[in-house]
Amino acid sequence: MRFLFTFGAIFFPLLLNIRATKQVPVINGIIGGVPHSNDKVPLEDNPVSPVATTPGKLRVVENSGVCETTPGVYQASGYGDLTSTQSIWFWFFAARKNPDTAPLALWFNGGPGSSSMIGLFQEHGPCRITNDSSTVVLNPNSWNTEANVLYIDQPVGVGFSHGDTVVGTSQQAASDVWKFLQIFFADARFAKYQPNPLALWTESYGGHYGPVFAAYFLKQNIAIEAGTVSGKKLNLKVLGVGNGLTDPLNQYYGYIVYAGSNPYHTLVSPSTISSANSSWSSPGGCKDQITSCYNGGSDSVCFNAQSYCNEFIFSDLTGDWDAYDVRYTDPDPYPPNFFTYINSVRTKIGAEVTWAQSNNEVYINFAIKGDWMRNSAPDLAYVVNAGVRTLIFDGDADFILNYVGVESMVDALQTQFSTAYRSQTWTPYKVNGQVTGQYKAAGTFAYLRIYGAGHEVPAYTYGNLGYGQAALQFFNQITFGNDLVST
Ligand SMILES: *[C@@H]1O[C@H](CO)[C@@H](O)[C@H](O)[C@H]1NC(C)=O
Ligand SMILES: *[C@@H]1O[C@H](CO)[C@@H](O)[C@H](O)[C@H]1NC(C)=O
Repeated sequence: MRFLFTFGAIFFPLLLNIRATKQVPVINGIIGGVPHSNDKVPLEDNPVSPVATTPGKLRVVENSGVCETTPGVYQASGYGDLTSTQSIWFWFFAARKNPDTAPLALWFNGGPGSSSMIGLFQEHGPCRITNDSSTVVLNPNSWNTEANVLYIDQPVGVGFSHGDTVVGTSQQAASDVWKFLQIFFADARFAKYQPNPLALWTESYGGHYGPVFAAYFLKQNIAIEAGTVSGKKLNLKVLGVGNGLTDPLNQYYGYIVYAGSNPYHTLVSPSTISSANSSWSSPGGCKDQITSCYNGGSDSVCFNAQSYCNEFIFSDLTGDWDAYDVRYTDPDPYPPNFFTYINSVRTKIGAEVTWAQSNNEVYINFAIKGDWMRNSAPDLAYVVNAGVRTLIFDGDADFILNYVGVESMVDALQTQFSTAYRSQTWTPYKVNGQVTGQYKAAGTFAYLRIYGAGHEVPAYTYGNLGYGQAALQFFNQITFGNDLVST
């Protein structure tokens, strides 16, 4: 086993106990924890046999027959090589209807370090993994029903992407994704999608990725127009963020509230809640640490805030429940894992490494840079004010990025629509007459709380709806530039 590094000068390094069961690694028992001075961090054992990369170009397998089996629907998977040692994995599915005019939606899972294949196989791809993890079935509520969808594993090192794992901030990730999209649209097979409306959809750590990437794309467009950057403009029209971490200072108190009061059950005892509450507000506690991080804090100030808050607030309050769906004890086996399945089709789709759900090196790079606790709300406000239609949504059974925190973040936003937004009352959101959530909207901004859904909202069902049916409705409405509307 290779080692990435050891923190500090120490005598008895302990091998870091790192588990990647769900999206955010569990470090020494703490979900979203960080390595400490005695920890020896294992490197990913994911060797790449030498491949002939083509920097600045795509390498593509077309119509592999995997996952999307609807007759006549185009798909392509492969790599965009940023450099000879940095390859970004993508999987493109053309819309099942009118692909030439349909919008193009990008999908990013979070982590940091999580593969976007999670969204593809567990949430909203053309096929979904079965409960026994053995095979896939066609998904009637796939997001490519009406939109072209491009799943991207990023940054380099995540999922099937491979090469130098140098990215440690959402800003650096944005720049690599922009470079990848330049390569994608330069390819003759995909150039035709560049003028179509572009939508960016993401979840979880995507509460940082979404706003930061979108703001970066818009600023690159301005620079291209001004002639200071050369490249193709990205026609960004839509941003969608599910169960996202955007503004930790406004979101972390939500753990304390949700643990004691949510639609399902209390998560821990009153004394645990009260002790987490003092960890939040006591001098030098979580609130003070995040505040210092926001006020120009160094990477280590922000790193320490992640360490403290995820241990004494988030992890302590999770109790025995699954942090991604509090209706079940940990670990909830749903959504089913697809590790064996995806690795069994990997050569057919042109993937060059063994797939893993998350990359710990990437996760730790972001922790060291303090990225977790930085504030992406200003970027979100910039994007909303620039006229990009934005939907923030949250499944009400998720604890890790619960709706209490996300709604506080949304209420604290400062955009051209925020005053009008805050004066709204809730409107029920219906799909085929079935109430499935509640929303508020103002201008081109909306927030939607979805009932009976865990962290991966499109993986769930509610009332008489099919799996992912509610998610497909809001995805289509927003991606096509419309307001949320009940049906
Ligand atoms: C798969 O598991 C989920 C969650 O436990 C359950 O609701 C669903 O009915 C199962 N699906 C099938 C086809 O058995
Ligand atoms: C946290 O403590 C503050 C100050 O004591 C109190 O006002 C608040 O209600 C507590 N919050 C919860 C969720 O218990």
